[in-house]
Amino acid sequence: MKILLVGSGAREHAIARAVIRSPQKPQLACFGSSVNPGIKKLSGVYSTGNINDPVAVTEFAEDTGAELAIVGPEAPLAAGVADALWQAGIPCVGPKQALAQLETSKAFTRDLLTEYGVPGCPRYKVFNSLAGVKEFLGELGGLFVVKYDGLMGGKGVKVAGDHLADHAEAIEYCRKLVADGKSFVIEEKLIGQEFSLMSFCDGQRLAHMPAVQDHKRAYDGDNGPNTGGMGSYSTADHSLPFLTTGDIETARAINQATMRALEQKFGEGYKGILYGGFMATADGVKLIEYNARFGDPECLNVLAILESDFVAICQAIVEGNLKQNMAQFAAQATVCKYAVPEGYPDSPVKNQLIDISAIDNPNQLYLAAVDLRPDGLYETGSRTAAVVGIADDLKSAEEIAQKEIECIGGPVFHRKDIGTTKLIKQRINHMSGLRK
Ligand code: AMP
Ligand code: GLY
Repeated sequence: MKILLVGSGAREHAIARAVIRSPQKPQLACFGSSVNPGIKKLSGVYSTGNINDPVAVTEFAEDTGAELAIVGPEAPLAAGVADALWQAGIPCVGPKQALAQLETSKAFTRDLLTEYGVPGCPRYKVFNSLAGVKEFLGELGGLFVVKYDGLMGGKGVKVAGDHLADHAEAIEYCRKLVADGKSFVIEEKLIGQEFSLMSFCDGQRLAHMPAVQDHKRAYDGDNGPNTGGMGSYSTADHSLPFLTTGDIETARAINQATMRALEQKFGEGYKGILYGGFMATADGVKLIEYNARFGDPECLNVLAILESDFVAICQAIVEGNLKQNMAQFAAQATVCKYAVPEGYPDSPVKNQLIDISAIDNPNQLYLAAVDLRPDGLYETGSRTAAVVGIADDLKSAEEIAQKEIECIGGPVFHRKDIGTTKLIKQRINHMSGLRK
């Protein structure tokens, strides 16, 4: 079995490991935007190029005789890489361009949820001019979010209180978007705890993964600018300490209803990873956004404890015969921590040597934005490398991850508080305060 992996970050490193663990003994070919030495070691063939070019990806797939493709990041999906691969007769894990709108267009997703009666959608309106903006902000009062309707690496979302002080600042941002010819969504700001619930999806059926909580802020105590994600944790019961069983069921039901809505709308199923970004609120679980791929870092948490054959799951996704029991996860807690360049995300240091030789368990080290040069491993400016601690309980998993992340040498920093008892207690208290 020859498998193509598109992408070359830590998420793809985790995917590559899950592929290689398969008892089917697949051969891996990777097409990345840079050379990830971790993935390269696991791949028979490794090439770099424009991963967002459907022709380049398909040519590489054909040259390597790939029988199945897995697309890691969202940009190739948005560019139609999955469509081109299917067209060339290569089944692909990752939705086609039209279905990937679930991630690429916030307005598309809100309208889909509304049209098909999917629960969990906050109040929202879509705009492409300033007409009605002031009135809708007036209806929402102090709780509003303005979202550019497209991919902007998380930077297009401006939240009241965090990025926008008042309606005047919101209108100013909207004015800028209108001037750039962009449409946007204004929606109700949800208050609560965020969590990710990802499901494998074959178009008609889902197999759910454990819930994970990511940490987007750069510094301890959820301070500082938003990042791609500084780390994440999951617990042995595959729920999260601040969630009820009902919350998990609601999130799963929202993913299920969204999958059905997509199939009805397009007459074709969504094949890939359905990643729901949810908010547990006083008023139940609400949907913040969908992503059309694995979360990064969430992917590292879940694939590290996947006991089933990942390749068999991918085959079931493309063939359309997925079952929940095909995705078994160990009853263990996981904590993932990222080491990122000093100055990340706003002004990261670049082209600096890092040292990973002191890592105790290289099997749970995931390389991201690095470059292997003759004199060593360099960080290139985005998130550098992640470690995952796995244990029976969260506290032990956190201790493993913390010890390991401290072993990465060079101008990097990490968050010490992710997965700690103190932070988890704060999350639980926040949620129980809201529920009262
Ligand atoms: P998105 O790109 O839609 O995931 O938004 C990025 C981040 O903005 C999310 O992870 C949330 O932290 C925040 N956010 C987005 N929408 C909302 C909302 N309706 N209420 C509160 N926070 C939000
Ligand atoms: N963990 C956030 C993301 O993957 O978008």
